[in-house]
This record gives sequence, structure tokens and C-alpha cells, in this order.
Amino acid sequence: MPDANHAVLDFLHTRRSRPAKLLQEPAPDRDALKLILTAAARTPDHGKLEPWRFIVLERAALKRLALAVDHCGAQTGRAAEDVEKARKQFSDSPLCVAVVEVQKPSEKIPAIEQTYSTGAVCLALLNAALASGWGANWLSGWPAHDNGFCGNALSLADNERVAGFIHIGTASALPPERPRPDIDAITTWLDT
Ligand SMILES: Cc1cc2nc3c(=O)[nH]c(=O)nc-3n(C[C@H](O)[C@H](O)[C@H](O)COP(=O)(O)O)c2cc1C
Repeated sequence: MPDANHAVLDFLHTRRSRPAKLLQEPAPDRDALKLILTAAARTPDHGKLEPWRFIVLERAALKRLALAVDHCGAQTGRAAEDVEKARKQFSDSPLCVAVVEVQKPSEKIPAIEQTYSTGAVCLALLNAALASGWGANWLSGWPAHDNGFCGNALSLADNERVAGFIHIGTASALPPERPRPDIDAITTWLDT
């Protein structure tokens, strides 16, 4: 039998996000976050293209983004409740990392594989934060998909988009477990 790493397996079998609404300060400092980002960047990446990067949103930037949500929401005619929900995602966050997909031109690596790798980075970042003892939550919301917002507030280029806003902080409570997939229902075993 292989030599199992039981601590890691225990983590993987019990890990769960902490809803962003339950996150408060303190958040990891820059040194602690850099270790988490280093773990997150250790992610499968076909062709070593590094089709992703991080934007760390500290408190002043989060306040600015909250204002930018208001501005963008008004300009694009979004419903007041949608604007409020998106604004609070930034105004109430202790710390957030925007994981940005950076599509690289490649004859060999399909664009979709760069997208998959970026999603994997998001989960790796979430798990590294959780394993470090922080609460963390992967959110999107309409600002993640609004090119105007991302261009103006985050200065994203045309080949870039937000794969996730990973909020990190101290969880004020442990949420109830959510239902998890029935493995038998989603697994097909082929032996011929
Ligand atoms: C790409 C992506 C975007 C998400 N965006 C949101 C969101 O905007 N709001 C939300 O409540 N949950 C969102 N979620 C769901 C949560 O991050 C997460 O799946 C849920 O809290 C349970 O995660 P866990 O398996 O780590 O416990 C998103 C998940 C993914 C993968």
C-alpha cells in the first residue's frame, strides 16, 4: 500500500468554505498571504504558461471597489438589491484575492485548458487559506463578469478576466455542513 498522508486526507475529506458574511478581521498579513499564494501557484498548468495572476485587495482597495460597484451598477442600470449585495461583498471583506485568468497565445495549449488551470488555482488558494486556519470563500457575483467594472476598477486587460474573488479572514462561526455529492450517482466505472 502507498504511504498515505493522513493529515492531508483528513483535511480534504472535511474541508469546507466559511461564508464571506461570517469573515472578519484579522486577515493574514502579507508574509502569511504570500505563503498561501505560493501554495496556490503550485497548480497544474499545461505548457507552463502561467495563465493566471493575483490581485490582493487590502482594506483601502476593497473600499474603493465598493464605491466602483455603486458607480458601475448605476451606470448599467442594475437592480438596487443586486448592487447592494455586490457592494457589501467588498465593503465587508477583511481581505480578498482576485484570481485573474490571463489567456496566453499558444498553438499547443487550448484556451479552455488555461481556464481549467485558473479554476484549479482558485481551489488551491481556497484550500491553502483554509489549511492555514483562516476562513475563506470563493465568490464571483456580477462584478466578476462585468468587463467595464473589471477594466476600470481592476485595470484588467482584454485577455484577462476574474475567475474568482477569494475572501480570506477569521470566521466568526462554523456554518452547517452542506449536502455533498452522491459519489455513486456521479461515477461510472468502466472495466471493459
Ligand atoms: C466560480 C464560483 C463562483 C462562486 N460564486 C459564488 C457567489 O457569488 N456567491 C455564493 O454564495 N457562492 C458562490 N460560490 C459557491 C461557494 O464558493 C462554495 O461553493 C460554497 O460556499 C461551498 O464551498 P465548499 O465546498 O468549499 O464548502 C461560487 C463557487 C464557484 C466555484
